[in-house]
Amino acid sequence: MTLVLGIESSCDESAVALVRHDRRILAERIASQDDTHAPWGGIVPELAARAHADRLAPMLDAMLTEAGVRLAEVDAIAATAGPGLIGGVMVGLVTGQALAFATGKPLWAINHLEGHALSPRLVDPDLAFPYLLLLVSGGHCQLIAVEGVGRYRRLATTIDDAAGEAFDKVAKMLGLGFPGGPAVERAATQGDPAAVPLPRPLVGSGEPHFSFAGLKTAVLRAVEGGHHGAADIAASFQAAVTDCLVDRTALALRAMPEATALVVAGGVAANGMIRAALEGLAARHALPFLAPPPRLCTDNAAMIAWAAQERIAAGLAPDPDPQARPRWPLDPAAEPVRGAGVKA
Ligand code: KG4
Ligand code: ZN
Repeated sequence: MTLVLGIESSCDESAVALVRHDRRILAERIASQDDTHAPWGGIVPELAARAHADRLAPMLDAMLTEAGVRLAEVDAIAATAGPGLIGGVMVGLVTGQALAFATGKPLWAINHLEGHALSPRLVDPDLAFPYLLLLVSGGHCQLIAVEGVGRYRRLATTIDDAAGEAFDKVAKMLGLGFPGGPAVERAATQGDPAAVPLPRPLVGSGEPHFSFAGLKTAVLRAVEGGHHGAADIAASFQAAVTDCLVDRTALALRAMPEATALVVAGGVAANGMIRAALEGLAARHALPFLAPPPRLCTDNAAMIAWAAQERIAAGLAPDPDPQARPRWPLDPAAEPVRGAGVKA
């Protein structure tokens, strides 16, 4: 019986979790910082780091008490070591190092993207490698061939904004508030997705990557033009993003005929229209479609603890000298592109 304590602090969610090797989440805590950042219309890295520093210790305390677990009973500590906002990553990693030092247990420095990539296996024990993962959040927009634990091939990434970042910026333009994704989705229900002609960057292109900057600029022009209401703009924007995601994912599926499933993770996967469109795509390829429940799709610590469990089960060894890394590609062989799908 292996029990791992996970810590996540790479963006604007402070999170801790206790996960057993048999996939049981004994307890977890997630604190969103939406209230901290909402007045600024986006995430302020300095405020995020401070909030993690204030919250992690009391959250750990409360979680261990709830689970009735003593720190000495934990077999390993796992903390996100990147990629992400460096101040927050350092807070989480140092917290993990302190716990590991105090207990004499190993520390696993986990790549946040590996957490997302393996999270579907925390929910579904039958999900076998290799599968195609579309990771779409505020910080990332990538297609990854997940071939095994520690074996990732990046098939595509964004050359500018992440999809969630585009949702957040469009929400700001429309005065819908932060975080923008859910607000845009709500507004879109009242609008006509065909009302505003918007570009679908790179759709139909043989190049594998994503791009949302041109779409965002076109939305800005539509807002400034004043001929369209917010609901129509939101609905048209959401339809354009959906088309981009489906087209790029279809291209990746053609490049990965060995895929056993199509999996989507990240905050944007909470969007009903996007989910339904991807499910349709998987069905056309006769593949199972999997999306972890929203609380495991967005940033959380259970996926970080689970990634350590997978590494332990695979017989891998922890990095003896982990560093906090603002950038940390899952696939070191992947060509760098302009935007790495990670918030700057
Ligand atoms: O995975 P996540 O919680 O954090 C990271 O960015 O890593 O994702 C948050 C992102 C935000 O950009 C948010 O606007 C977007 O996911 N999002 C959505 C929806 N819910 C959250 N985007 C579109 N539709 C939604 N319903
Ligand atoms: Zn994330």
